[in-house]
Amino acid sequence: MSEKQSEKMRLDKFLVSTGTVTRSEAIKLCRAGKVTVNGRAEKDSSVKIDPAKDEVFLLGKKTEYRKYTYIMMNKPEGVVSATEDGDVTVIDLLPQELRRIGLFPCGRLDKNTHGFVLLTNNGELAHFLLSPKHHVRKEYYFETKFPLSEEDRITLENGVDIGGYTTAPCNVILDGEKKGIITLTEGKYHQIKLMMTAVHNQITFLKRISFAEIALDTTLAEGSWRYLSDDEIKIIEHVF
Ligand code: URA
Repeated sequence: MSEKQSEKMRLDKFLVSTGTVTRSEAIKLCRAGKVTVNGRAEKDSSVKIDPAKDEVFLLGKKTEYRKYTYIMMNKPEGVVSATEDGDVTVIDLLPQELRRIGLFPCGRLDKNTHGFVLLTNNGELAHFLLSPKHHVRKEYYFETKFPLSEEDRITLENGVDIGGYTTAPCNVILDGEKKGIITLTEGKYHQIKLMMTAVHNQITFLKRISFAEIALDTTLAEGSWRYLSDDEIKIIEHVF
């Protein structure tokens, strides 16, 4: 989702908006002569540029201003998917400059759930991705306390009562008796835990491994993050 602006902005802010570098990296790369503006190396990252007119190359690659930021985080257990809380939040795991640009987690994972949290400051896109009308797919790897039978699997797939609400049809693939992958197109509070309770079982481990057709990067350590790639942003834009 790139958008050209006609207003001038600082070069370092522009570089951060491209979703490839942090502000401190942008400053260092400018100082090292790795950033050119209209063909000339620009060492001062505080100069104002016009993203609509000026051509900026970062490490030899043409860069475009991006209005919104998209971050993939591998949330560890114990971190809260919120912008503010008494406990450590996903926002607290970001560097200082990314805590001030209005990022929020797109949907919630429970405090003890691991895995993919998408952080963005694009409210319209988040609203779309989270609306139950749009059936955006979320995949989770799970482990249970007791064995799940084929009958349990089918019951879960068809929908179970989680306290006054019957879950929509979903997909459950078992890998042995006590683990598997469940794919949901909705996101009720504690949904998977409550679904397992409905079949007299209990979740012992839960990790979101994909969201909106984007897979969690398996090289991303727990607690770390990266910007979505251009291809991943295209996937999201396509869903949107
Ligand atoms: N279902 C749950 O029970 N917990 C989550 O964090 C996500 C889905």
